[in-house]
Amino acid sequence: MTLTYRLAALDDIPALEELIPLSARKLQVGFYSEAQIEGAIGTVFGVDSQLIRDGTYFVALDGERVVGCGGWSKRKTLHGGDRAKTGVDPLRDPATEPAMIRAFFIHPAYARRGIGRRIMELSEAAALAAGFRQIDTVATLAGAPLYAAFAYETVERFEIPLPNGATMPVVRMRKRPATAS
Ligand SMILES: CC(C)(COP(=O)(O)OP(=O)(O)OC[C@H]1O[C@@H](n2cnc3c(N)ncnc32)[C@H](O)[C@@H]1OP(=O)(O)O)[C@@H](O)C(=O)NCCC(=O)NCCS
Repeated sequence: MTLTYRLAALDDIPALEELIPLSARKLQVGFYSEAQIEGAIGTVFGVDSQLIRDGTYFVALDGERVVGCGGWSKRKTLHGGDRAKTGVDPLRDPATEPAMIRAFFIHPAYARRGIGRRIMELSEAAALAAGFRQIDTVATLAGAPLYAAFAYETVERFEIPLPNGATMPVVRMRKRPATAS
């Protein structure tokens, strides 16, 4: 299996819209109830096309097939796809605000093979190159172990209200600053 990585393009959106529910429905079992997963699909778990337009969203490919996605954001929105948004999404100030790690979804057949890790490396490097000094994320309970492996620590826990009346507990995490060696 040879995986390749590239920036996502707008014409990847149909493939991403298939991948995201597939990933959530399999890989979040044990972390969330069916009502929570189904309530989040489409709004909290959806494509944020602003990230694609910004050139801050990556896809992993097996041949031509999109098998993973994730990225980072220089925008204010903390989480969620296009359908959770209204209006413009302002830029963050890299000097005073953190970049956000956003929307990682791996195909269940490709889980635990290092795709999330590789997209994290690409995202962190790009956010730092863009001048950000701090990186945060709002993690699902399923995503938290990946970010913990990258030295992100819990800042706060909160619940996202979902359109079906359920709520989704999530964790805001922050990259622990590297110490000088
Ligand atoms: C979370 C997710 C993106 C991880 O992707 P992945 O490609 O399977 O992760 P990797 O193989 O790169 O894992 C890297 C490290 O993260 C940690 N990790 C990842 N998934 C883990 C899990 N289910 N349990 C414990 N640790 C995990 C491990 O330290 C792992 O290293 P190791 O395999 O050497 O032990 C994937 O499970 C997913 O798509 N989940 C459903 C959607 C979701 O909740 N996304 C997060 C949105 S915030």
